[in-house]
Amino acid sequence: MRVVSLGIVGLLFCALGQVSAESPVLKPVNLRCQGFVDPLGIDAKKPALSWIVASEDPSVRGQMQSAYQVMVADEGSNEILWDSGKVEGSNSIHIPYNGKPLRSHRRYVWKVRVWNREDQVSEWSGPQSWSTGFLEEGWPPEWIGGTGRTQRLRKEFALPKPVKRAWVYASALGLYELRLNGRKVGDDWYAPGWTDYRTRVQYQCHDVTGLLQKGRNAIGAELAPGWYMGRIAWFAKDMYGKEVAFAARLHVEFEDGTQQVVGTDKTWQAGTSPVTDSDMQDGDRYDARLEQPGWDAPNFNDAAWKPVSIVKLKKEPVLVAQAEPSIGVLAEVAPVKVGEPKPGLFVYDLGENITGVVRIKAKGAAGTTLTLQHAERLNADGTLDLTNLKLAKATDVHILKGQGEEVFQPKFTFHGFRYFSVQGPAKAPALADVTGLVTGNRVEQAGTLNTYEDDLNRVLENIHRTLRNSFLSVPMDSSQRSERLGWTGDANVMAATSAYMFDAWRFFAKWQTDILDAQSLNDGGKDEGYMPNVAPKWKSPGKGHAGSGGGWGDVGVNLPYVLWLRYGDTKIIEESYVRMQKWLVFLESKLEEGIVPNSAQIARAGDWENVDDDTFKDVVATAYYALDLMQMAEMAEAIGKTTDAAHYREQYQKVRAAFIGKWVSGNGLVAKGSQTAQVFALYIGLYPDGKKEAVLEKLVENIEAHGNHLTTGYLGTQWLLHVLADNGRLDVAYAILQQTTQPSWIFMTSMEQTTLWESWDTLGSDGNFLNEKRTSLGHSALGSAGDWMFQAIGGLVPDSKHPGFHHFYICPRPGGTLKQAEMGYPSPYGKIATRWIIKGNKMVLEVEVPVNATATIMLPAMQADRITEGGKPAAASPGVAFLESKEGTTRYKVGSGTYSFMLPFGARK
Ligand code: BGC
Repeated sequence: MRVVSLGIVGLLFCALGQVSAESPVLKPVNLRCQGFVDPLGIDAKKPALSWIVASEDPSVRGQMQSAYQVMVADEGSNEILWDSGKVEGSNSIHIPYNGKPLRSHRRYVWKVRVWNREDQVSEWSGPQSWSTGFLEEGWPPEWIGGTGRTQRLRKEFALPKPVKRAWVYASALGLYELRLNGRKVGDDWYAPGWTDYRTRVQYQCHDVTGLLQKGRNAIGAELAPGWYMGRIAWFAKDMYGKEVAFAARLHVEFEDGTQQVVGTDKTWQAGTSPVTDSDMQDGDRYDARLEQPGWDAPNFNDAAWKPVSIVKLKKEPVLVAQAEPSIGVLAEVAPVKVGEPKPGLFVYDLGENITGVVRIKAKGAAGTTLTLQHAERLNADGTLDLTNLKLAKATDVHILKGQGEEVFQPKFTFHGFRYFSVQGPAKAPALADVTGLVTGNRVEQAGTLNTYEDDLNRVLENIHRTLRNSFLSVPMDSSQRSERLGWTGDANVMAATSAYMFDAWRFFAKWQTDILDAQSLNDGGKDEGYMPNVAPKWKSPGKGHAGSGGGWGDVGVNLPYVLWLRYGDTKIIEESYVRMQKWLVFLESKLEEGIVPNSAQIARAGDWENVDDDTFKDVVATAYYALDLMQMAEMAEAIGKTTDAAHYREQYQKVRAAFIGKWVSGNGLVAKGSQTAQVFALYIGLYPDGKKEAVLEKLVENIEAHGNHLTTGYLGTQWLLHVLADNGRLDVAYAILQQTTQPSWIFMTSMEQTTLWESWDTLGSDGNFLNEKRTSLGHSALGSAGDWMFQAIGGLVPDSKHPGFHHFYICPRPGGTLKQAEMGYPSPYGKIATRWIIKGNKMVLEVEVPVNATATIMLPAMQADRITEGGKPAAASPGVAFLESKEGTTRYKVGSGTYSFMLPFGARK
């Protein structure tokens, strides 16, 4: 066998020794460019290429890619632009394109082959592709528009020859729906998505070859205010501008190789839209009597339309290719029941809280008005409770044209709701005629976890649903009321959970850009370095959202850390590095005796939504600063900046000393001893050497004094279970997780609730609002238990030495009443799965490790000689290397394959 250099993971693996001599041939599958399959309109000059290594026989253990070769060619000319040659190593994710410069508007095809440990090469993968958007020249668009908040634009044009291929690029200040020859282009919703439109606007790219024809063609766009001009939060409308505008470029390539470009310019015509009013919070108003059939097709009589005007902006934002997964309809939900609490008011229950809209079919006389209103909750009399919507009207109005069955589907608005009412028709529309459409980013599902406990499974389901409902161009705090902001604290605490439940890499990477844009625009563009409380920002009318806050602004460092750790993305570190440094320098400049002071600018929200157990804001902000420094040190190292890493470690030690000096008492009490303060000290290492036990004890005392309840807010909750379990109090972690009375997750999912609440006490046990101020029933930020559940119950723990799950830990920690669990996670290297069950005094753990990854299995038992794998003593099992038995845990190292461990399982704390 020829030994090739396998990189660090391979070397670790080689230490395993006893693997089969025969390695099956491998196969690269699931090729992705920038995280997407065959994406269009990519503007990265060195897009990231990834694949998963499959094997013709996955049952053979310890399979590893020893080398790869990537080839990229220009599809048009067949020119090979990049042949990586044989590159040794097991890297198969985020491989940057490294060939000749790419050109705009080209399609590139690529393929990869890989070598196994015995240097046998695979077949080439099937070719995959990406197309480029605007790479060099940017896109100085001609923004065009007519009059009014909603409008339609159109143009007819001739194509003299048969079309070989056509791509259209389009964007808007506002929202747009693009039409070509009578058909909707693609199936995107809410394009171009939300960014800080003063800085950056995304464009979408679609392949429209099949929609064009030789001869006359028509292109049209329907515009609405969206985030650009609609109400943002509880502020006024027109936060980014006062005129909606549209820009597009259609690139057509004819069969004879010649080209034609149709772009927005003053030859377009503007008309009115049947969407007579629209606001993302308030709803759409659609008057079908104003439809103009054929407006988006050739040979339409547009005599009544007016020439568009060119919209000039004071400062042109940059146009960038859409970086997030597209937004669309994720699911259709049929209502489960309908009631009529008042004559003519029909109230439907979807059975689950969603973000989206209702599609309704109706028949009736012209002018009949259907009014749909949406809410999360019902009043006792069965009518909608609208109190928690604040200013959001959440009302869609449809006016019938009176021509048979009409189907309405609002497209420029969304609501957060489970219930909706219909008014207008004499009879309740049939259940089959009303459908809830869930809208959001098409973020793929990732991990699944079954705890075999109904209440915990419900908790997981509700966390998942709440997150799904929050991913709409930005991670929103909630989707029902007049807020719907990308609050940085909320997404910060949920990032780790999100990354288990969803393939959230691209979604969050786009939002990191929003965060950095907001940082650079803070305080009217002073760019002092502080990270924002919400992103994107807008023309802030007050100071309300200028400042950061411990745990909020820190997201600018914490989010790249999660994306690197979970998805192996080092580029996000490089891209954010200078801005992250700026934030840390900013914090340093504010330190008072080593402490981040409690100022409105930098320590604003604190441990939001704690249960009468507040933590000083400077404790929170200083602890987060220390965490940022620790994470920054690791990230600096990951991109080869070792001097910086040393500096950040040193700085961390200084902050730690100041924190301890000011707040940690000899008896282990941290500040006032809130649960969150104790948790922060334990998680971030902010206690004197030898004092861990004392700090832990104070935490446990607090929990016990609250009858095994947590009192932590958004920030403390994310690490509460971790620090208990990691420091020997798994029993207390499970007591909190399985707590059924308020405050607890299980309580929050009782009373048929399908999403998480804003506050631990949003509803009381009678189902009425208990906390009148915090009334959102669809708020994700308290759902961070998901992260711990995947780690402790699912047993999957990432390793920052080998990000992206190239190496990971399998460390299930049974406890509470749990007797079995099952987890699956499609990691960047392939599927990881665990399944464990406790039978009597034995535990069986089955593990699946993907090809090209390695794992350290950590079993909760000390008697290594009584642990078996596949029926044999584990240490002697092929492909399993015994590492050590220590502190109640026995560790083994394994490579790819499936394993079945059996171990003695006794009563453990
Ligand atoms: C939002 C929260 C947010 C908080 C911070 C609330 O109104 O809904 O989720 O984190 O404000 O101030």
